Amino acid sequence: MSNVISFKDVSLNFGGVQALKNISFDIQENSLFAIIGPNGAGKTSILNCINGIYKPTNGSIEIFGEDTSNLEPDEIANAGVSRTFQNIELFENMTALDNILIGAHRHINYGPVQGLFFSKKARNEEEKARKISEDVIDFLEIEEYRYSYIISLPYGIQKRIELGRALAMQPKVILLDEPAAGMNNEETEDIARFILDIHEELGITVILIDHDMNMVMDIATEVVAMDFGEKLFQGLPEDAAKDQKVIDAYLGVSG
Ligand SMILES: Nc1ncnc2c1ncn2[C@@H]1O[C@H](COP(=O)(O)OP(=O)(O)OP(=O)(O)O)[C@@H](O)[C@H]1O
Ligand SMILES: [Mg+2]
Repeated sequence: MSNVISFKDVSLNFGGVQALKNISFDIQENSLFAIIGPNGAGKTSILNCINGIYKPTNGSIEIFGEDTSNLEPDEIANAGVSRTFQNIELFENMTALDNILIGAHRHINYGPVQGLFFSKKARNEEEKARKISEDVIDFLEIEEYRYSYIISLPYGIQKRIELGRALAMQPKVILLDEPAAGMNNEETEDIARFILDIHEELGITVILIDHDMNMVMDIATEVVAMDFGEKLFQGLPEDAAKDQKVIDAYLGVSG
């Protein structure tokens, strides 16, 4: 098993706020790696550091063994890291299919001039993007929403479409920031099943932030617990649930 992501003594400061304090961990290929912790613990900051939106104040991050300090977010995405956001980021006045096509276009290989004249190559590339998008739509069972405008769709479906856009990038690693937040039980179960399928059927390494401890316990292979920018715990989900520091910091406050 090789590491897909390594944090080496990563700190991240915003003025006086230390969002991350000397964080180290390795994420192995094919794991379903969960990050838990209360509000403001630093969970989203970890994802923002992985995909290059933030650069660590100290320490370093490797992705597939390569130091990412000089890489831009789009270069990290092109290396095979895609994500969804805590607050859905979709184009609301476009259809579900068009949003997913945007993800698939990462693979499209034609310059603007070729696109303009709609050359044979551009046409083939466009067909490839459509095929990828339709496969993702089948996989996530969102056929009926294909031509619906995002703004008209229920929240749970919007979250699924955002997941679809990330999958259409055909990533090796997918970062999911609270994919079940704000969902009812049924929607949460659906999303948990899709995350498991992404991990097991598609073989994608999943990094999952979630407040729903039950979901994390059910599906994660490894857990890191954060609090106030510090790593409290790393290990198996069943051990996290028994760890006193985790219970005090997280389970305690969430009831
Ligand atoms: N761009 C920023 N500028 C200033 N402070 C920030 C910024 N991003 C995060 N922080 C601060 O860093 C800390 C960690 O925030 P982060 O968003 O990583 O927490 P989180 O664990 O994802 O919380 P939540 O569960 O509420 O999503 C918080 O104190 C937050 O206010
Ligand atoms: Mg967050």
